[in-house]
Amino acid sequence: MIKLPGLIDPHVHVREPGQTHKEDWDTATQSALAGGITTILAMPNTKPPIFDSATLDIALRAAKQNARCDYGQFIGAGPHNADLLPALANRAVGLKMYLDSTFGELRLDDMTLWTPHFEKFPKNFPLVLHAESRTMAAGILFAAIYDRPVHIAHISLREEVLLIKAAKEKGIKVTCEVCPHHLFMTKDSPLPQEEGARANGRKEVRPRLATKEDVDALWQNLAVIDCFATDHAPHTLTEKDSDNPPPGFPGLETALPLLLTAVSESRLTIPDIIEKMFTNPKKIFNLPEQPETYVEVDENAAYEIKASEQFTRCGWTPFEGWKVKGKIRKVVLRGKTAFEDGKIFAEAGYGRNIRG
Ligand code: DOR
Ligand code: ZN
Repeated sequence: MIKLPGLIDPHVHVREPGQTHKEDWDTATQSALAGGITTILAMPNTKPPIFDSATLDIALRAAKQNARCDYGQFIGAGPHNADLLPALANRAVGLKMYLDSTFGELRLDDMTLWTPHFEKFPKNFPLVLHAESRTMAAGILFAAIYDRPVHIAHISLREEVLLIKAAKEKGIKVTCEVCPHHLFMTKDSPLPQEEGARANGRKEVRPRLATKEDVDALWQNLAVIDCFATDHAPHTLTEKDSDNPPPGFPGLETALPLLLTAVSESRLTIPDIIEKMFTNPKKIFNLPEQPETYVEVDENAAYEIKASEQFTRCGWTPFEGWKVKGKIRKVVLRGKTAFEDGKIFAEAGYGRNIRG
């Protein structure tokens, strides 16, 4: 048995409010606990998005009632809310900015809309940027100009990890995360599909799965990567196999087993996992201690990943059938057994707001 600290996932799409047929605070936090994760940081692109006091209240109320692990909530940067967000900062974990994709009301169409957020949001909170490729370079320039920390979500490309390395060497305050699917899959990886299903919908994820050269560059530059984050983005199979498949993979329950498998293959170490799933996210997002909290894993247990054994509501995983080594046996959260041998014991409402 290996004992790990309660792990932190800084990038989770909980889907509540608004899309609870995909996931909600109850199922997302069960999924987290089953994955050895005791704190999730929730993204604001819900329906409605979390972008003012009223919507932040809606999310925090739902979380307070139903979360089974600890949590923080990001608020989202929109074109019109830069003035009102500083007053909400203390109730949130940080500010999420979608810099180059079209995400409804959180869309920031040009750089003049980035400026007020960089100027006004309290500087002791990191700005988390969804910014791919050259947009990421622009985001890092903003970090340098406004002299404040930015955290780049889900990097996936060789050019991204190399630029972040160079920026860090210059002393720019940039940190980053990488998702297991960008470490373990390339754009050519086969995805499990049932008869008649459209494989292409299941493969849709943003950032897209990248080339082998990109994946190799991430592994070669692990020292540049601050955090592992799942970007748990559940959608149902009906949605994924439809004519207009939404991008996103569930990931809370597969991250640690995949990373432990990499440890068993000597591609990674246990201290790497602790650094990138506990020490660094705790520091970057200024998270409180969780006393009497730990995760027990059997590093020798080999098994096959099966969606049918998962707690996420979305009902599928892109890693279906993958053989992994390293099973989560037990999760203790603040002195209470929250998960053991495939069963959830923490009740809905046991989870605490990390800014509470
Ligand atoms: O694949 C993705 N899914 N990327 C995103 O940035 C959003 C996410 C979602 O909310 O489904
Ligand atoms: Zn995301």
